[in-house]
Amino acid sequence: MNILITGGTGFIGAQLVPVLVGAPDQAQGDHLTLLTRQPEKMAKHYAAWADTGRLRFVSSLDALARDEAFDAVINLAGEGIADKPWTTQRKLELHASRVLLTESLGDWLRRAKHKPNVLISGSAVGWYGSQGERILDEESSAESGDYTHHLCRDWEAAALAAAPANARVCTLRLGVVIGPGGGMLRRLLPVFGLGLGGVLGNGEQYLSWVSRSDVVQVVLRMLTDRSLHGVFNLTAPAPVSNAEFTRTLARLLRRPAFLRVPASVLKLGLGEMSTLLLDGQRVMPSRLLSADYRFLHSTLEDALRSALSRNDSSRDND
Ligand SMILES: NC(=O)c1ccc[n+]([C@@H]2O[C@H](COP(=O)([O-])OP(=O)(O)OC[C@H]3O[C@@H](n4cnc5c(N)ncnc54)[C@H](OP(=O)(O)O)[C@@H]3O)[C@@H](O)[C@H]2O)c1
Repeated sequence: MNILITGGTGFIGAQLVPVLVGAPDQAQGDHLTLLTRQPEKMAKHYAAWADTGRLRFVSSLDALARDEAFDAVINLAGEGIADKPWTTQRKLELHASRVLLTESLGDWLRRAKHKPNVLISGSAVGWYGSQGERILDEESSAESGDYTHHLCRDWEAAALAAAPANARVCTLRLGVVIGPGGGMLRRLLPVFGLGLGGVLGNGEQYLSWVSRSDVVQVVLRMLTDRSLHGVFNLTAPAPVSNAEFTRTLARLLRRPAFLRVPASVLKLGLGEMSTLLLDGQRVMPSRLLSADYRFLHSTLEDALRSALSRNDSSRDND
């Protein structure tokens, strides 16, 4: 396949890209074009693939010829939602890196001579907003006052508008992705390592999570399985409370986690972004289960064990 990927240089892409392109010494693999703000750095990172001719990096969609024939587009680009407090300026960056970028992708696709068959585009369980203990599947409605709902809603709408007529669109409402060398775990490990891990707020808020390997497997299947289209919750079928997550991670690391961070402290420190930690969604991947997708990691303990066993900076496959 010939695939265009945005956001392919991040934590998910670090596992997805090598799986798609194949090992450097392998004769076959998909041909990938990655849109990135740092093409030279990424070309160095993937130097071993240089001779395969299967991997290239572009810094702008304008660098692509009109007669490129992409079979599929995977759209994952987005500034980190938890990287900086949600000031007005930061919200503009979060919006631009997802919604405006997806709109530009749509502009390019409208001009392209050959249209892809499938667009796989990111979103997040934040689409549902904060809904306490309610079990949410793809049929559920959203708590529409929340910022994460607005951001994901606009991102999903932009992807639908960007897709060529007749193309399948698969929207991934991702839970927190767990894997080695990145994502939430990379932030938590130093804290837990110092014995400073602890429950956030009352600890009852749900965390819907998914292993990075499952994200990759689902994307692979979506590339070829024509029966899959529409919105998919990409979460393992076992969301946990913050207290349970904290207990499980601390136990696996053999570290204490007795602290409790009061909600008021998080609200004071992080402002509106504290909702990411204090509110949650209890999400079920009903459509993936109906499609007989078998999760590689269906319990948190299994996913964490796998990630921790390979937790180095190389971002290897988990
Ligand atoms: N990981 C999770 O737990 C999780 C959960 C829910 C949703 N998601 C969403 O899934 C997507 C991929 O996740 P990830 O964890 O792989 O993300 P990541 O590691 O933060 O990588 C983000 C990617 O987006 C690109 N990007 C960031 N800011 C950009 C900007 N201003 N303009 C253009 N591109 C930009 C980066 O490309 P360059 O720096 O190379 O340009 C990078 O490839 C993200 O959109 C994220 O919001 C992730």
